[in-house]
Amino acid sequence: MLALFCLVATALAQITFQDASGTSLRTDNGSYGPPLEEIHYYWDQWPIGLSVSSTGRLFVCYTRGDYSYTLGEAVNKTAEKPYPSAELNLPVSQLGTSFNGIPFGSSDSTAFISVQALYITPETPTRDETLWVLDTGRPSIKDSKNKSTTYYASPGGPKLVGISLRNDSIYETFAFPASVHYPDSYMNDLRFDMRANISAGGRGVAYIVDSSDEGRPGFIILDLGTGDSWRRLTQHPSVLRVERDVPSYFGHAFYQRSVGSPISTLKEGNDGMQLSADGATIYYSPLTSDVLYSVPTANLLARDTGNPLAELAAANNVSCLGQRGGNANGFEGDSNGLVYMLMPEHNAVYYYDPADLQTHTFIRDPRIMWPDSASVAEDGYFYVNINQLPFQPQWNDGVDLRVKPGAVLRAKLPRGGSKIRGLV
Ligand SMILES: *[C@@H]1O[C@H](CO)[C@@H](O)[C@H](O)[C@H]1NC(C)=O
Ligand SMILES: *[C@@H]1O[C@H](CO)[C@@H](O)[C@H](O)[C@H]1NC(C)=O
Ligand SMILES: *[C@@H]1O[C@H](CO)[C@@H](O)[C@H](O)[C@H]1NC(C)=O
Ligand SMILES: *[C@@H]1O[C@H](CO)[C@@H](O)[C@H](O)[C@H]1NC(C)=O
Ligand SMILES: *[C@@H]1O[C@H](CO)[C@@H](O)[C@H](O)[C@H]1NC(C)=O
Ligand SMILES: *[C@@H]1O[C@H](CO)[C@@H](O)[C@H](O)[C@H]1NC(C)=O
Repeated sequence: MLALFCLVATALAQITFQDASGTSLRTDNGSYGPPLEEIHYYWDQWPIGLSVSSTGRLFVCYTRGDYSYTLGEAVNKTAEKPYPSAELNLPVSQLGTSFNGIPFGSSDSTAFISVQALYITPETPTRDETLWVLDTGRPSIKDSKNKSTTYYASPGGPKLVGISLRNDSIYETFAFPASVHYPDSYMNDLRFDMRANISAGGRGVAYIVDSSDEGRPGFIILDLGTGDSWRRLTQHPSVLRVERDVPSYFGHAFYQRSVGSPISTLKEGNDGMQLSADGATIYYSPLTSDVLYSVPTANLLARDTGNPLAELAAANNVSCLGQRGGNANGFEGDSNGLVYMLMPEHNAVYYYDPADLQTHTFIRDPRIMWPDSASVAEDGYFYVNINQLPFQPQWNDGVDLRVKPGAVLRAKLPRGGSKIRGLV
């Protein structure tokens, strides 16, 4: 049997995946959609979030850890520098503290601890173009045995900071009470509706997802005029992670292998979120789920005061928009109302089109090795960070299997789409 096999095999072309040119079989070329350009390379720190300004400035954040800064701006195609200054990025030695032996993140609301997400709002009659910086206040710190712990938040540390892109100065900072941001909350992404009449304060609102791995995921809503914040849909089934969800990355079933912990699966709740171009709907989903949900913003904006049914009405108004073909990481949206979802299992970006109620592929490419955060810019391009997250040491028994550089890729939006500018 073996001899026969060898005889047949030598008569065949020697086809490998690396050189499929000799095959007569149909192959999956791994790509789809408009051309994908390589815009920036990360040679130093691995990124998480990004946002591109109206003039093409590229802002990036990095969670900490041991990185020397957490908020940066690209200075050229291969390097970034701390932003707005090195001083406003707390030094690694000051990221955390402990109380009765329990580790807590810094409570410093004047400098950045561990920034997870960025979003730029356009200039309005009453506000400069603003880089909004979402600081979780929860660094992940390694102990002497290399076990990584994400510190609990101290009030003041988790914050939303507004930086004017006209003068590169912080002009607004919002912290959260412990009843809104729990010690194990994790603010993962943010969107804005700047219309004056959207809330009591007359200065717009921020919608923030709490993806808490350990605790109670949901939404945090912040009135940018009054500074009030409140929660909605905490622990609603639509914001919970799917338990023991095993995705496939690069053709391998993925289990989380962390130093000092049992073999596990990803646990991330409500993670991706996008506000519709008319401001009426929030689309969202947990990271470890294949299902897309939506809820009217009216239900997130409703306050409990004088309205004891606000939370029940919000829960009742959640819509399940069905499966989308895989787990999704971050979201974005464009002026045509398309809801983009980063699909790490497929090296792809998909979009949900509310007009035909279906999910479609936007771009797919073998270089999209874990898309983590995207930014639709005013130049009509979709920018996406690539950070090889499944190869990070925290998920691989402490061994760093990533290969530098990380990257920002971009592709032209379909149908002449651009950044959502209407909500001002
Ligand atoms: C790869 O295959 C897709 C169909 O899956 C096709 O649309 C695309 O044009 C192909 N790309 C190349 C470079 O052949
Ligand atoms: C990019 O900036 C870095 C840091 O300032 C510098 O070391 C490097 O030479 C620059 N690269 C190019 C191509 O200008
Ligand atoms: C911790 O990880 C580093 C590499 O990142 C390695 O050099 C060191 O030996 C590890 N320490 C322990 C106690 O395993
Ligand atoms: C920067 O601009 C903001 C918003 O317009 C303003 O409030 C602040 O005073 C300015 N800061 C500096 C240092 O110019
Ligand atoms: C709020 O203002 C917008 C214009 O920014 C307007 O279209 C809308 O009708 C107003 N909504 C209410 C409830 O007044
Ligand atoms: C949906 O929310 C509205 C308030 O925006 C509320 O009046 C309505 O009762 C809710 N629907 C359900 C089925 O609870």
